[in-house]
Amino acid sequence: MGDRQAGDPPQYYEAHVFVCCNRRPDGHKRGSCAAKGSEKLRDYMKVRAKELGLPGVRVNMAGCLDRCELGPCVVIYPEGVWYPPETAAAE
Ligand code: FES
Repeated sequence: MGDRQAGDPPQYYEAHVFVCCNRRPDGHKRGSCAAKGSEKLRDYMKVRAKELGLPGVRVNMAGCLDRCELGPCVVIYPEGVWYPPETAAAE
């Protein structure tokens, strides 16, 4: 997965960040990332990417990434690294 092939179009972003902002009704057995604060997280990441002048970084809202129990879920491509961030604080 993720291997580029000859003839593939060039990558458009250096890092493409997808933040699940799916929201389910309260009490749903899988929960949802929006209920765990993912919308605020996405907004924060967008602002910080802009403040830091990271032109090759794009932060997008995503629908359910099917790892709901680990949320709020963030995945960054092209590496395909998953993050379950707990705070907005840098470590
Ligand atoms: S609700 Fe976010 S991964 Fe499913």
